[in-house]
Amino acid sequence: MVQNTATSVVTIDRFIVEQEKRFPEATGALSGILYDLAVAAKMIANKVRLAGLADVLGAQGTANVQGEIQQKLDVIANTILVKALDHGGRLCAMASEEEEGIIVVPDKFQRGNYVALFDPLDGSSNIDVNIPVGTIFSVLRRVSPAGGPGTVEDMLQPGLRQVAAGYVIYGSSTMLVYTTGHGAHGFTLDPAIGEFLLSHPDIRIPERGRFLSVNDSYEKYWTEPVKALMRHYRGMNGRRDPMNVRYVGSLVADFHRNLLGGGLFAYPANTKSPTGKLRLLYECNPLAFICEQAGGAAIDGRQRILDIQPTELHQRAPYFVGSKADVEAAADYLAQA
Ligand code: AHG
Ligand code: MN
Ligand code: MN
Repeated sequence: MVQNTATSVVTIDRFIVEQEKRFPEATGALSGILYDLAVAAKMIANKVRLAGLADVLGAQGTANVQGEIQQKLDVIANTILVKALDHGGRLCAMASEEEEGIIVVPDKFQRGNYVALFDPLDGSSNIDVNIPVGTIFSVLRRVSPAGGPGTVEDMLQPGLRQVAAGYVIYGSSTMLVYTTGHGAHGFTLDPAIGEFLLSHPDIRIPERGRFLSVNDSYEKYWTEPVKALMRHYRGMNGRRDPMNVRYVGSLVADFHRNLLGGGLFAYPANTKSPTGKLRLLYECNPLAFICEQAGGAAIDGRQRILDIQPTELHQRAPYFVGSKADVEAAADYLAQA
């Protein structure tokens, strides 16, 4: 834990600048994108905090006075991200779980050499019941020619090409965790001063975990190797002590707990969802990058998530992410599939 005091405070801005200094060739563009994402995170956190009041305000006639229908928070979060990122001259395009095609940076703004991809509000079905939700983001360097509009090809790169990735969890506190490939670092929002302060430098996930996060209501749709794997994690085959099951249903929240406490999040393929549910570009890749940087691993059951060559923007992938030893167990069991 870092002790931030009035005279010794590591804000996210300071941390980003200090990281950038280690790379004399850096242009500052990536740092600028991270600042913008941190600002967007604060704005989304603010909206999420008011979630339970949105209808109350509407009922008073304040929010709906122009006949506007309350927008869903995941649409609001998407708009906040796009508006925070589109004009800085650092990106040429964006892609979002909430939009079918890519979002090209308009002509009126300068276009940069990066693209950003995001899941604006992860776990949004949990909003109504006051359970943590999150935002997940990924940044890639463009492969299309500089200056022009960004393209789908810029997005369809394997996760190992990510130059930055991160997530924000809107929980009991708001935290932002990110990596640029030099460790995974966590910052907690101090609401009194509106700053993210370094709280979890160089996060390391335990080698073997305590927690298992999986929605086992799909058990009857799982393949036999997946069933055998889950019996293994539960200690039912006598080869290990049972893991402790924890499933919130917000990937960010489940991932964050397991990153800090050790464990595995699994969303296997099943006969109803043959490629699983989670989106490779907006969910699997960014969290896989962070997990690997923290000493963990992520696979789709057969191969490393970060090696997958995407073919579609909204492609899904089966997902096993977390402590290395627990992911290795998944690889062993699923190799028999
Ligand atoms: P999103 O809210 O962005 O659509 O993501 C929901 C995802 C993920 O957060 C969670 O782990 C998973 O859906 C839960 O799915 P099941 O209800 O099928 O378990
Ligand atoms: Mn999601
Ligand atoms: Mn979402």
